[in-house]
Amino acid sequence: MSEVRIECANVRKSYGRKVAVRDVSFVVEPGDRVGIVGESGSGKSTMAKIVVGLEKPTAGSVTINGRDLGSLMSTRAGVLEYRRAVQLVAQDTTSTFDPRHTIREALRVPAQLLGGHDVVGADQAIAEITQELGITPALLERYPRELSGGQRQRMSIARALVVRPGLLVCDEAVSALDVSVQGVVLNLLKRYSVGHGAGLLFVSHGLPATAFLTRKLVVMNQGEVVENGPTLSVLETPQHPYTQTLVAAYEAIEGQTAA
Ligand SMILES: Nc1ncnc2c1ncn2[C@@H]1O[C@H](COP(=O)(O)OP(=O)(O)OP(=O)(O)O)[C@@H](O)[C@H]1O
Ligand SMILES: [Mg+2]
Repeated sequence: MSEVRIECANVRKSYGRKVAVRDVSFVVEPGDRVGIVGESGSGKSTMAKIVVGLEKPTAGSVTINGRDLGSLMSTRAGVLEYRRAVQLVAQDTTSTFDPRHTIREALRVPAQLLGGHDVVGADQAIAEITQELGITPALLERYPRELSGGQRQRMSIARALVVRPGLLVCDEAVSALDVSVQGVVLNLLKRYSVGHGAGLLFVSHGLPATAFLTRKLVVMNQGEVVENGPTLSVLETPQHPYTQTLVAAYEAIEGQTAA
């Protein structure tokens, strides 16, 4: 695994006349944990897809370790190199897995193609990551439709981590999980990041999970970044009215749990 530094500079994305994000800039330093929060439709998933190269910005740029993502993704070798470095856990896990293959078969593909393992090595890597994520090995032999939403979500995290990426982009990765499992998965994500020196870009509409996990926070509102700074300072002294509302709601929840 190599170090990954991502920089988004003045990114804009339009779908026809609809502008999904405009003028978005932020940096994910190697090994850093950055959160993107904002309400539904604020452009979080659009940014996640742009960072992993699934969507192209209409304007502005994304660079990885100083190299332009657009030119890197223009060759198959570049795409493979990027997929090795940056992995996505997508918001919609139903489309993550091909219904015709078992979960083990689905995990072998990235383990072999991107992780550089043969079949035996791939199964070894799969065993390690499933153990780390507390996944019952028997679930690997199931088909995606035979899993619950929460189980499928964990499998999609396993599929991303089996590659041992330098940056993991999570789009609402814990939203389908019940609260007790959420805590377990959040701890695992943090442990992966700290233990492997890997970066984490954690996209979520939930401030509590994001606050727990990240060191920096990017707050989006209607396609724009309204706040960008260390998580603790954003929580302590939110500047923008939208962030103030978000933090007030978060404090109300925290107050209830503390009581
Ligand atoms: N393929 C698309 N075609 C047209 N509009 C799109 C497309 N993808 C996203 N949009 C629009 O762009 C805006 C941002 O969408 P996005 O999915 O990034 O929001 P989000 O912050 O991830 O929301 P949520 O919290 O609901 O997941 C929305 O208004 C959405 O309708
Ligand atoms: Mg989204």
